[in-house]
Amino acid sequence: MKRIEILILCVMLAVTTTAGVKADGKSEGEWTTIRNGQVWLTAEGDTVQAHAPGFVLVDGVWYMCGEDRANTWRPDVNLYSSRDLVNWKFEKKIIENGVTTKELGRSRMIERPKLLYNPKTGKYVVWCHYESRNYGASEAACFESDKVNGEYKYVWSGRPLGVKSRDCNVFQDKEGTAYFISTTEENQHLGLFRLSEDYHEAVEHTEIFSHQRREAPAIVRLGDTYFMFSSACTGWDPNQCKLSYSNDLRQGWTPLENIGNNIAFDTQAAAILEVRGTKTTTYLYVGDRWQDPGLPDTKTIIFPIEFEGEKCKFEYHERFDINFTTGEWRETPTDGLFVDKSGWKVVESSGEAEGRGAGRNVIDGDKTTAWFSRQGEEGEALHFIQIDVGRKQKIRGLLLTPNLQAGGRGLVRDYEFLVSADGKEWTVASSGRWMPYYTEVDFEAQECRYFKLVCKRSRFVSVAEIDVMKE
Ligand code: GAL
Repeated sequence: MKRIEILILCVMLAVTTTAGVKADGKSEGEWTTIRNGQVWLTAEGDTVQAHAPGFVLVDGVWYMCGEDRANTWRPDVNLYSSRDLVNWKFEKKIIENGVTTKELGRSRMIERPKLLYNPKTGKYVVWCHYESRNYGASEAACFESDKVNGEYKYVWSGRPLGVKSRDCNVFQDKEGTAYFISTTEENQHLGLFRLSEDYHEAVEHTEIFSHQRREAPAIVRLGDTYFMFSSACTGWDPNQCKLSYSNDLRQGWTPLENIGNNIAFDTQAAAILEVRGTKTTTYLYVGDRWQDPGLPDTKTIIFPIEFEGEKCKFEYHERFDINFTTGEWRETPTDGLFVDKSGWKVVESSGEAEGRGAGRNVIDGDKTTAWFSRQGEEGEALHFIQIDVGRKQKIRGLLLTPNLQAGGRGLVRDYEFLVSADGKEWTVASSGRWMPYYTEVDFEAQECRYFKLVCKRSRFVSVAEIDVMKE
């Protein structure tokens, strides 16, 4: 990304809050817009590198630690802070290759660092996956600091209670008891490890989800019910998120149930955050969109989830608003953001002209219908759709809503987005080898009446909606 684009993005991120004042003059706090799929930047314009993140909330400030994948295979652990999950300040590297321990960056690397605050000792603890390059070590490690952004010192590493342990998370119960949860014995089971009072070591092991090959566990407690989100083990590729619940962490977990689409909206679970406010609590799912497209380009995705009884509404939000005072969330008001689609027409498109996969499905405002375009018999792998928006407009961005039912199939990656005033002469407004999943793509404002999306290098393309952003 060019420097100037980074600066524009920073300014855009910085202005996404709007104040709300009640009739009696009392402030109801501000609405913060969280936009998904974008690169997160600090005020200095540096990319936020904190993948598979762990969080603690300290006096209204979210501290997030995570893998620094800037150098891909030797992740240090970075710590950032934010009051609104949008504007992030780089605090420091809390765990550093070759510095925090000698073997780090050589025979060991850290994945999934997770933060805990221990109310008994007043210390901050990081538990993580502590691994060798071929994932054979299957160890965990623990680090501790007096302050959240202080000096994290090595406490321990090894197989917890002798059990081979990989992908992991932590969970702190209401009473302050903390657990390390990890994928055990060559990815077969999940192990629930109760930690000692000082959180330094595992003192009890319970095997849960035996032989179900789950990883990336994330637990949240509502009342007396624990909900666990987890994924299958498919490396960096996304897969179906599943949910289970129980009234007892050690037993009674319900059979795993699919939630969201079969690629968890291109994410893998990292954490569930609770935004407690004066009116309500909003639960936020935090997931990693790994390799988007490279490992250092991994994005952090956040969207609200809702629980009704034992069910969880797990729907992707390309953007949403959150109010950190009241705890409420809402759909971001989009009036004036997108060009109105009522006068649009499909001029021509590849693929199906009529029926279930017709091109007009991308302009009908209905996310459950989609345009399909398959590679032709002659083998041409060019998919296109041309739209007439009815009159000249200035546009500055594009949003493709993927066919959510198709999951990872039919995604547009290699694309060109062209604009034209007369439908004859075309200018490329945006192009690239990697269209990010369900994410606004911004470009220099262009005046046009027609636009065309061209997709290459794909046997099958399926798009639910195309929207363009007004200048
Ligand atoms: C994933 C896991 C990541 C990392 C990756 C390596 O399944 O969730 O934390 O270990 O595999 O391929």
